[in-house]
Amino acid sequence: MSDERETMRRVRAPGRVNLIGDHTDYTGGLVLPFAIDRQTTIDYRPADGIRLRSVDEAEPVAFDHRQPPQPGTIDSWGRYVAAVVAELGPERGLDGVVETTIPIGSGLSSSAALEVAVAIALGFDGTPIELAELCRRAEHAATGVRTGIMDQLCIAAATEGHAALIDCHSLDITDVPLPPPSEVEFVVRFVAGRTLEGSEYDTRVAECAMAEELIGPLRLADLDAVAAIDGPVIRSRARHVVSENRRVRDYADALAAGDLATAGAIMVDGHRSLRDDYATSIPIMDAAVEELMATPGVLGARMTGGGFGGCVVAMSEPGTGLDGWPVVPVAGAGHVSET
Ligand code: GLA
Repeated sequence: MSDERETMRRVRAPGRVNLIGDHTDYTGGLVLPFAIDRQTTIDYRPADGIRLRSVDEAEPVAFDHRQPPQPGTIDSWGRYVAAVVAELGPERGLDGVVETTIPIGSGLSSSAALEVAVAIALGFDGTPIELAELCRRAEHAATGVRTGIMDQLCIAAATEGHAALIDCHSLDITDVPLPPPSEVEFVVRFVAGRTLEGSEYDTRVAECAMAEELIGPLRLADLDAVAAIDGPVIRSRARHVVSENRRVRDYADALAAGDLATAGAIMVDGHRSLRDDYATSIPIMDAAVEELMATPGVLGARMTGGGFGGCVVAMSEPGTGLDGWPVVPVAGAGHVSET
């Protein structure tokens, strides 16, 4: 007789790359990421208590699902698991194995993929937005960094073949079709390992809050309002956010018009804004973007994600043969099969 406890199940959750719209999500702005064909999987059986081991990490994770440890007391990947369990309060645990093809600590949202996969494997029952909000809270509890909703929502809700234009205020998602690989290639190039913990990420969040005290919500502000801000640092930060929201719309419009040259130029503008106004790039990322832009066939390139290291993303003509990981847009997370 088959019992639910005997059934192996598999959950998958992809990583993400952001094409344009960085450091806009936590002020309710616009972002345009897509879920990539690199993923975290959990093969598991429902069980009493949490028992997870990872193919990629030394430490296994084991605790009572009714009494998850404080994430801050765990040093390893287990803190993300504990934080999701604490947020979800699942009725059961699981016994399983985690495996990932998302490079860890490279800015492709390996932690958000783990959170989303764990929540689904533990029986999360709600909308993709609710799933993303729960996992964002878990991320905050695990890391203490006040990240936005982009990573978790893209991973929870992406549509195959599309980027997700997310309004991070309303949480409305518009699927934006991406040209097929026969027309354009997206390549992610790893530049430097990083973690947002201990970075200036939270400083940027605070600087945006200061700007909003002066001129109101940045998602509604225009560049004239920004120009009236006295302090040069806060003015620069606000200028990035306001101009970046514009770039997301312009990039989506350029894609819709099939104008890849304009889309590529917008990516480079976005990189310069993150470098000069937002100060989240680092010299080797700037050098990588310069090098890519000097390569025949490359249409656009920029740092992607939180910055301070991580990856750059390039958009190129097919057959350009860039070093890096070619990525294609896949569907968001879910159960994949029952074996
Ligand atoms: C990290 C955060 C996101 C977002 C990006 C920058 O990936 O997790 O919420 O703020 O940085 O766009």
